[in-house]
Amino acid sequence: MNRRVLVAGGAGYIGSHTTVELIAAGYDVIVVDNFSNSDASSLEGIQRITGVMPTFIEADCCDKEAMRRVFEAHDFDSVIHFAAFKAVGESVAEPMKYYRNNLLSLLNILELMREYGRRNVVFSSSATVYGDADVLPVTEMTPRKPATSPYGNTKQMSEDILRDMVHATEGLQGIALRYFNPIGAHPSAHIGELPRGVPNNLVPYITQTAAGVRECLSIFGDDYPTPDGSCLRDYIDIVDLARAHVLAIGRMVEGRSKARYEVFNVGTGRPVSVFELVKGFEQANDLKLNYRVAARREGDVTAIWADTTLANEELGWHAERELCDTLRAAWAWECSVRGIDR
Ligand code: NAD
Ligand code: WQD
Repeated sequence: MNRRVLVAGGAGYIGSHTTVELIAAGYDVIVVDNFSNSDASSLEGIQRITGVMPTFIEADCCDKEAMRRVFEAHDFDSVIHFAAFKAVGESVAEPMKYYRNNLLSLLNILELMREYGRRNVVFSSSATVYGDADVLPVTEMTPRKPATSPYGNTKQMSEDILRDMVHATEGLQGIALRYFNPIGAHPSAHIGELPRGVPNNLVPYITQTAAGVRECLSIFGDDYPTPDGSCLRDYIDIVDLARAHVLAIGRMVEGRSKARYEVFNVGTGRPVSVFELVKGFEQANDLKLNYRVAARREGDVTAIWADTTLANEELGWHAERELCDTLRAAWAWECSVRGIDR
């Protein structure tokens, strides 16, 4: 059985945690990354946690000839494709940057997999494909709404490209994982999320505010039709999310897929409000956070959370980590990045 996996975008937030779990599960990992949103420190972190430095190739997945050299040199049978840009707001301002990077990287990888007869691919999709869903929680059968950002559009288009390519290519099978809101860090605090500039996402904004890097967290809206007026999301621990990739690869490698193209939600199944998350962070870490209520953020949906039955039953995957442990790990990581003594 071929237990080698190419992890495209493996130096990034989700890719580095997944690489750790793959190594722990006995896979050989080859990481490709162009460091457009990461650096070599995550690779060092992986080595500190696992004792193994994955094979690393600095390359742009949009550069087909560079990727061809990777396929020529390594006989992995499976690919996990994380390499994409992910800032929703930036994608509205610079749509071509997103279409070019997110689509071309996928096209190249799928064409090379077909050419070289590589079999299994996991794609990083997102809950963003559901948009503002009419019925909650969302199942994989919930209709996707038209995307509200170029970023979301690249995820919908990528899912469709993967589905069509799998169906057109004998021997190729694919799994799209729709992540909800990934948060936290490895409990060792050796790897975590490294946002560049002002964070867009809630948890990095919270940890940077607690660290004194940001003055005050703005809670975007307290007048939503939810129990406490703030938005509801499904916050999934990064290590739990990473494990879902290992199970998805195992399912394909061991020939247990029920269809050549499958889709799974990866969330906890539990809606958490922004206020609950902020209070949870304060309690888990025994500190007070400076926050204020601000206007709603354009484009935010009121609520979204996952029905995870399919991943539970088919992948044998369950979200295991408690939110307070995840929020402790997020703070431990921020402290390690900033050199703060907790
Ligand atoms: P990230 O930016 O930390 O990781 C992406 C990695 O890919 C980075 O290391 C970056 O340098 C690399 N990369 C980007 N374009 C590349 C290219 N053309 N060639 C080589 N490397 C390239 O982001 P992440 O949070 O780890 O997200 C990973 C994937 O999961 C992305 O596809 C993202 O859209 C998707 N996703 C993320 C979230 C989230 O909230 N973090 C939610 C849903 C889906
Ligand atoms: C969470 C909640 C905000 C920041 C995004 C992408 C999605 C997926 C995951 C990639 C919301 C509130 C936030 C702040 C706040 N990524 N908030 N103050 O928007 O649910 O999802 O990341 O695929 O596609 O859209 O995540 O962390 O930005 O926001 O009050 O400073 O926190 O309004 O309710 P979001 P988020």
